[in-house]
Amino acid sequence: MTGQPGGQQPGDAATRAADPRPSALTQRPAAAPLPGDLPTDATIHRMIRVDHAGEYGAARIYAGQLAVLGRSAKADLLRHMQEQEQAHLDTFNTVLADRRVRPTALLPFWHLAGFALGAATAVLCERAAMACTVAVEETIDAHYTAQIDTLAESDPPMRDTLEKFRAEEREHRDIALANGAEQAPGYRLLSAAIRTGCRIAIRLSERL
Ligand SMILES: [Fe+2]
Ligand SMILES: [Fe+2]
Repeated sequence: MTGQPGGQQPGDAATRAADPRPSALTQRPAAAPLPGDLPTDATIHRMIRVDHAGEYGAARIYAGQLAVLGRSAKADLLRHMQEQEQAHLDTFNTVLADRRVRPTALLPFWHLAGFALGAATAVLCERAAMACTVAVEETIDAHYTAQIDTLAESDPPMRDTLEKFRAEEREHRDIALANGAEQAPGYRLLSAAIRTGCRIAIRLSERL
């Protein structure tokens, strides 16, 4: 009546642990986690989730800025940066699918919040838009640097991708600094507020 239970049988876990076949979730060898660490795959999945969210938000920020400044003298610069953000996002869309990582549940919120941040700073003035770029890109630079240090040699393809993107984020920061970011009215306050918002967005997107 009850039939053979479909649950785990004694020895199953040991059999799986000894199974040399690679995980279906990733194509790279597993590294042994240190005591207290999350399993390496879980750590990397969180990285991918938050990086995808960040690139999504960045693309939306530039879309918001271009909605306001699309006919201004800064439009070509903004389009250049938006195109690179879109390439970053396209890469993380592929990585999400390949490694079977779910995106953050907050994407609909970042869709609106990113555009609103970009448009609002652009409405203030071009230099405020550039100040937004410096704050966002410096936060992402620090975030990618921490991830690159964490990955070290455990996932070279991911690390190489992050190093390439970090170089482009730094280029965006330099473009914004060269275009008057620090001369924006209320620069320090604006920058501090955006940096805080970015750090909160990172923490939320890792977890949700
Ligand atoms: Fe980016
Ligand atoms: Fe960027």
